[in-house]
Amino acid sequence: MHLPDLNVAKSRIKKENKYINLEENYQKIFADKKYFLRTYGCQMNVHDSEAIRSYLESLGLTNTENIEEANVVVLNTCAIRENARDKVIGFLGKCKYLKKNRDDFKIVLAGCMSEQPDFVDDILKNHKYIDIIIGTHNIYELPKLLMQEFKKQVIEVYSNSDEIVEGMHYERDSKISAWVNIMYGCDKFCTYCIVPYTRGRERSRKLESIIEEVNDLKNKGYKEVTLLGQNVNAYGKDIGETFSHLLECVAKTNIERIRFVTSHPWNFTDEMINVIAKYKNIMPYIHLPIQSGSDEILKRMNRRYTKKEYLELFHKMKEKIPGIAITTDIIVGFPNETRENFEETLDVVKTCEFDGAFTFIFSKREGTPAAKMEDTISQEEKEERLQELNKLVNYYSNKSNQKLLGKVVEVLVLGESEKNKEKLYGYTDTYKLVNIEGPKTIIGKIVNVKITDAKSFSLDGEYVNEKVTN
Ligand code: 5AD
Ligand code: SF4
Repeated sequence: MHLPDLNVAKSRIKKENKYINLEENYQKIFADKKYFLRTYGCQMNVHDSEAIRSYLESLGLTNTENIEEANVVVLNTCAIRENARDKVIGFLGKCKYLKKNRDDFKIVLAGCMSEQPDFVDDILKNHKYIDIIIGTHNIYELPKLLMQEFKKQVIEVYSNSDEIVEGMHYERDSKISAWVNIMYGCDKFCTYCIVPYTRGRERSRKLESIIEEVNDLKNKGYKEVTLLGQNVNAYGKDIGETFSHLLECVAKTNIERIRFVTSHPWNFTDEMINVIAKYKNIMPYIHLPIQSGSDEILKRMNRRYTKKEYLELFHKMKEKIPGIAITTDIIVGFPNETRENFEETLDVVKTCEFDGAFTFIFSKREGTPAAKMEDTISQEEKEERLQELNKLVNYYSNKSNQKLLGKVVEVLVLGESEKNKEKLYGYTDTYKLVNIEGPKTIIGKIVNVKITDAKSFSLDGEYVNEKVTN
């Protein structure tokens, strides 16, 4: 079988920056056609889907939520865990059925799964009805491929090309809060993770291009940017820049709110902490995955820090950045994780009292080093550990939310709540979700909200008044 290969992934070379120019505009040749887009996975994928949307619309295609009336179905896939793959395979079955006897129904597979050679082999052999397979590196080629495709099956997966793409166009989901890619790929090669294979080596965008994009968003009225990278605080190492310098430059644009995900503890410097503490518009919120509390497991995960080092960093952040909220990611059931190893993780959760945590059972990704490690722990045991961990994690996120009860906090209001259209939703500076009772006119504004109820995953609140700006 054709699997992701560690040596191939590590030997990829970085290329020159590539500028995409959408001005050579594609004519609206598909103005009679509709597209259906489904996104799986992380924020990076959500943001990539904004680019996919932009390229489809540049061809004249219009969006539909009803897959049956679509002519182009795009699945932007995730490969991080096996169940993500199962979901996509299930959905492809439905697409195959819809495509029967239709020439004007094209299926595009995009995202991280397209960058897995074994998956592409499988598609070529067993899913011949898929028309286009496009990678994470070359989304901008979608218009060209679609134009060819309304003729034949096309595969363009740039596994070995690691360009830095500038000038990408995005059809952004929000007019208030925007994602901004600052770097692509990841060099960390954590032994369980598929990302360095699907997204390539770390490549940083030019600082000036990023600042230009943030200024442009600010001028368009955006209130918030979230700087994105698989390993966001490793920004700049390949171009003689630093993440702390970039953050400072972004802060000086005076955009109202700045966030960034995801940070690796190993790359977190004192300068970064100082910059975050210094600028009011850098939000006091850090997502800092720990993955495990056991030194033995951390070593086998290739995480490059010990429990003690993580805790030191954690406490330094808490001490230097007033009111900071910290969330994390945790994997249970890494190969041969003992009960004692797992208890070290529970111990860290008790010490840190995280504001929130995403928890996962280890999922074997073929081709990664961890997939070859011996594992004698049963799935049942892993599931029990996950439940035990979740109970503890929820207890602390609830505890952290309870602290806000009765308080008035600043919230950036993003829109109507999906569950209850009568209510609005937004986020506190510490990235806590608040469902708000208030007038629709506050959408897009930072307002004061009084917290009336606190649960594990969200808060309820009432609009008080607008934020006073100095
Ligand atoms: N199995 C389970 N969880 C994983 N993650 C990454 N790879 C795997 C895997 N093979 C988790 C990590 C990471 C988050 C995005 O997904 O916790 O931080
Ligand atoms: Fe995967 Fe994150 Fe590790 Fe990179 S740092 S290999 S993206 S878990």
